[in-house]
Amino acid sequence: MKNMLVTGGCGFIGANFVRYLLEESDFTGRIINLDKLTYAGNPENLADIETDYKDRYIFIKADICDGTRMAEIFEHYEIDSVCHFAAESHVDRSIAKPGEFIQTNIVGTFNLLESARIHRNRMILFHHISTDEVYGSLGREGHFKETTPYKPNSPYSASKAASDHLVRAYYKTYGLPMTISNCSNNYGPYQFPEKLIPLIILNALEGKSLPVYGDGRNVRDWLYVKDHCIAIWTIMKNGTSGETYNVGGNSELENIKIVEMICDILDEKNPLSDGGSRRDLITFVKDRPGHDLRYAVDFSKLSKNLNWRPKQSLETGIRDTIQWYMDNREWVERVKSGEYQTWIKTHYS
Ligand code: NAD
Ligand code: DAU
Repeated sequence: MKNMLVTGGCGFIGANFVRYLLEESDFTGRIINLDKLTYAGNPENLADIETDYKDRYIFIKADICDGTRMAEIFEHYEIDSVCHFAAESHVDRSIAKPGEFIQTNIVGTFNLLESARIHRNRMILFHHISTDEVYGSLGREGHFKETTPYKPNSPYSASKAASDHLVRAYYKTYGLPMTISNCSNNYGPYQFPEKLIPLIILNALEGKSLPVYGDGRNVRDWLYVKDHCIAIWTIMKNGTSGETYNVGGNSELENIKIVEMICDILDEKNPLSDGGSRRDLITFVKDRPGHDLRYAVDFSKLSKNLNWRPKQSLETGIRDTIQWYMDNREWVERVKSGEYQTWIKTHYS
């Protein structure tokens, strides 16, 4: 893989992946990071990479919904591999305003597949990043396997399911080499503070209320983002074309438990002046419509075939993540104030 197109590389997982690939992995090629820079894309996440890896890292501001532009980029940069992160990723936004999810997640993925199809003679791999949410919701028992039928419940997960089907269809119909990974909930550095864990960390630090949907008993399977990045690169290097791999953290927890865990760690690291508990900030709010009860991922295929398993425990991962948000207040302030968007407008108009 000499010229890898990474889409959505300025978002949370994409930025961690670019960083991992260049700083820690055995990847020796060049990364072409293509990102539209929506509210969730922040090139400041990779500012040091842009300086330190001038010969191996290129950033392009572009929209995957622009098919003509995608074809030009594949041609110009002689793209031979794709790692496709770009998406609208937040479930609540998909419920409020689904249109953008259909465009980016389905039409955008289709455009990339078309460009890859045209250049399939030099295409080594199209790796598609997907989610465990395509399988729908579990009851209190059981795990999602790669063979679990798709049953998405939100506009977000339905759009991701559609994109997964398109990727597989291009393998079956046109012989495009591809792999898909379906991963559980990620957390870690650079996550946009609309998702549960960074939202709770920042609200708790600021003494604001901590919104928990419904009764807080919904369960997610948490995975530290770097472990996800290692899984993706493992699949890209050693996975079998045409296959899907589930990725999970083996760290199931009810939402209320993870919120309490964050409160307790923060009380220990940064005690409140009156000696009180941040648990008092927890507020149960109206539930998310169609809220999936539980996700749990069986990743035995990935561990047996490709020898991957998560390295970071939930306890240490949450501690490291809290510390990252405490140490990076400037990043937090620029994201929360919207200042990063002003910077984008002046630099990428
Ligand atoms: P994110 O929202 O933080 O980042 C998405 C990135 O895509 C942003 O940089 C954004 O600017 C870019 N983007 C959006 N629309 C675009 C378009 N039309 N053209 C080009 N770029 C565009 O998302 P994330 O949490 O990093 O998720 C990345 C991928 O991983 C998504 O495909 C998501 O479905 C999947 N995923 C996420 C998780 C999770 O827990 N966050 C878990 C499993 C799978
Ligand atoms: O499972 C993988 C998916 O995980 C990814 O595909 C998505 O891109 C990613 O956003 C994430 O989806 P969730 O909806 O599970 O993540 P979120 O952080 O939004 O919510 C986690 C849980 O916490 C969920 O049960 C809803 C709940 N929640 C969320 C928010 C934002 C709250 O209770 N309060 C909140 O304020």
